[in-house]
Amino acid sequence: MATPSVRQNAAENGIIPLLTPYQMGKFQLSHRVVLAPLTRQRSYGNVPQPHAILYYSQRTTKGGLLVSEATGVSDTFRGYPDTPGIWTKEQVEAWKPIVDAVHAKGGIFFCQIWHTGRVSNTCFQPNGQAPISSTDKGVTPQIRSNGIDVAQFSTPRRLRTDEIPLIVNDFRLAARNAIEAGFDGVEIHGAHGYLIDQFLKDEVNDRTDQYGGSLENRCRFTFEIVEAIVNEIGADKVGIRLSPFANYAEAGDSNPEALGLYLAESLNKYGITYCHMVEPRMKKMVEKSECPHSLVPMRKAFNGTFIVAGGYEREDGNEAVAEDRSDLVAYGRWFLANPDLPRRFEVNAPLNKYIRDTFYITSDLDPVIGYSDYPFLET
Ligand code: FNR
Repeated sequence: MATPSVRQNAAENGIIPLLTPYQMGKFQLSHRVVLAPLTRQRSYGNVPQPHAILYYSQRTTKGGLLVSEATGVSDTFRGYPDTPGIWTKEQVEAWKPIVDAVHAKGGIFFCQIWHTGRVSNTCFQPNGQAPISSTDKGVTPQIRSNGIDVAQFSTPRRLRTDEIPLIVNDFRLAARNAIEAGFDGVEIHGAHGYLIDQFLKDEVNDRTDQYGGSLENRCRFTFEIVEAIVNEIGADKVGIRLSPFANYAEAGDSNPEALGLYLAESLNKYGITYCHMVEPRMKKMVEKSECPHSLVPMRKAFNGTFIVAGGYEREDGNEAVAEDRSDLVAYGRWFLANPDLPRRFEVNAPLNKYIRDTFYITSDLDPVIGYSDYPFLET
């Protein structure tokens, strides 16, 4: 861990820690400002659309790391309208020009692969079937981020033990498809109360088979997915996102510190490239000051690249890097609203405000608004 004098030196020398180069496995990054995965609900019929070419390419810098919006691994993944998938040939083909555009500008692009599990409704499922989960306990209806709409979740169907390898296989195939589409790697979405998290967290997972109960058992599904993907595409192309402290969709854990640490330590066995952890401060009602540096034990335990996300601004992002609490910092809302975020950090420019109403838009509205129309700095 760097001492405060390192931070002071960086400041005195005019170095902006977030904008220093970093070697992430085989990827040479020119800076440490990562585009966090951001669901935008503009992939009509679960197929990425040409308008995503401009959106992602606007947020690309030479040597910058981008993580795609969460992308479904199979036709049971859905929990929201118009989120992209990567299980069909059509979807793979549709991703190709988007990935090409990022590569044309020298960016490094990981595809976040996803299954919502019980955070779903029968209306999103093939043949109106029940969503799958680790459990048959449903999520109580929740007010959506616009403060008005209420999301209704259907009672899930608990996966049988013998079905679990099939879901692991879906993740494996999705990773293979992502590489075929040209992505540099995949980020396994193990965060935010979705299917993988529904196995990890003891407030959800009430299984009595080898996938429930002890910490080891609850993590088994995650590690099986990691192992299958590592075997399929190589550890150098695999990252994972985890949020041990988050309680979205009623997926909390009684001991998030132990869960996070066990995951970080155990992941070393697979040699994956990065571990992307979400700060506890994104948990409802938890303020930044209440949980300083909670991810440090996990950062120390994990041997690969560590990425933090959740509520970061320019200054605390710089501090996290200067003090060696993270290698990289992912930005969600600020990057959504500031396509040239690294440049703005460089010159310490004011940031465009993000507009919550246009975070998610469905097919009857213009895909440009709140998507690819945020202004760049004038040069
Ligand atoms: C998100 N977030 C998110 N996380 C994830 O793992 N996959 C996803 O697809 C999404 N989608 C998404 C959409 C929108 C509109 C928002 C605002 C957030 C969470 C996101 O990656 C990030 O962790 C949070 O936004 C917190 O970071 P910031 O915004 O404080 O930098």
